[in-house]
Amino acid sequence: MRFGIKTLDEYDVKGKTVLCRVDINQPVDKKTNTLKSINRIQGCVPTIRELSDKGAKVVLMAHQGSDIEYKNFYTTEPHSKVLAELLNREVKFIDDVCGPAAREAIKVLKDGEILLLDNVRFVSEEQTLFEMKLNLSHEEQAKTLLVRTLAPLGDIYVCDAFAAAHRDQPSLCGFEQVMPSAMGRLFEAEYCAVSQVMENPERPCVFVLGGAKISDAFLMMETVLGRGIADQVLTGGLVANILLAAAGKEIGRRSMDFIVKSNYAEWIEKAKPLYEQYKDKIVLPQDLAWVENGKRKEARVNYIPNYVGLVDIGHKAAEEYREIILNAKTVCVNGPMGIFEEELTEYGTKAVWDALADSEAYTLVGGGDSVTATEKYGLKDRMSYICTAGGALIRFLSGEELPVVKALRHAARTFA
Ligand code: 3PG
Repeated sequence: MRFGIKTLDEYDVKGKTVLCRVDINQPVDKKTNTLKSINRIQGCVPTIRELSDKGAKVVLMAHQGSDIEYKNFYTTEPHSKVLAELLNREVKFIDDVCGPAAREAIKVLKDGEILLLDNVRFVSEEQTLFEMKLNLSHEEQAKTLLVRTLAPLGDIYVCDAFAAAHRDQPSLCGFEQVMPSAMGRLFEAEYCAVSQVMENPERPCVFVLGGAKISDAFLMMETVLGRGIADQVLTGGLVANILLAAAGKEIGRRSMDFIVKSNYAEWIEKAKPLYEQYKDKIVLPQDLAWVENGKRKEARVNYIPNYVGLVDIGHKAAEEYREIILNAKTVCVNGPMGIFEEELTEYGTKAVWDALADSEAYTLVGGGDSVTATEKYGLKDRMSYICTAGGALIRFLSGEELPVVKALRHAARTFA
């Protein structure tokens, strides 16, 4: 048992039906019916392989896409093909979640076989909008359709979905109320990696926060500064633009228009007290870049023209960040420094990512865009740990007990 949660070591799964919740939520290209990234699918391969090798009948449950943004909301069928290739064995797929077809497919599974069910969010009680509106307790989640129909077909529940551990949904928190449960290998590894940063980071401990997920970035910044986890926070992307505006600096009309259009204007006010309080720890980029007439231009803060839209940190900022990263012992990264997808605007992100690769610090990379940047620059093997979680990682660092962790601990106590 680790962290009050059972691990796979505590079960003999041979001949057992294991209901395994994974997070293989990936960006989808709906035109070609393919996935734009397979990072999260790769992440849960060790658990699935182990269960199958040990002779379990493996039933995989997963969500795909968000019902809030209604983005990437799609079937999990393409995932079964990717998984089959990665595992080099058959992965059955059924276009049903917990109806008669899915139940029949589970019943006929043989030892070692793997079945992936369709997107669990096709069932209303699994949706995030449902969670937000009704806020079911874990006991109530155990009575939802999915848990009521699938739990009687399984012997053990395994959760390997650390990236969704902040969600309070039946496929994540309901099964633990009614059956013996464990965390999978990826869940265990990610829990360990983020706990290390949270509880005992080697110092100096530096956070690199960028990108455009503003509420997540500010929650993380407030937490790691407030709890004394971070010695310094290096900023880039929209996060830096908002802090610069909060510090009364010119960021250019187009940057400001973008902030207003994205409904982030209120963050400029919210950022002011945070910046005031932690001025000595929050590092703002000393120069920034924009694109004009097809060319990249840069200027120091205080010399930014009032008509531009900022798209990257500048060379001097990148150099300063590199220095700080090379002197750190722990670096935790969430969010790129600018629009790294395009050649003219990727310099800052590439330079910071190269510094992470060259650094001897423990480097933890989390969040979708950061992982994509790491893949783009071919640096996956040069980071200490790449976490599949974004939102879950941020909530974990804020010190909250994640709903799935709470549910798994409950199962460990209840089904001793
Ligand atoms: C994620 O992408 O962070 C996880 O898969 C959780 O997805 P969600 O935010 O749609 O619940």
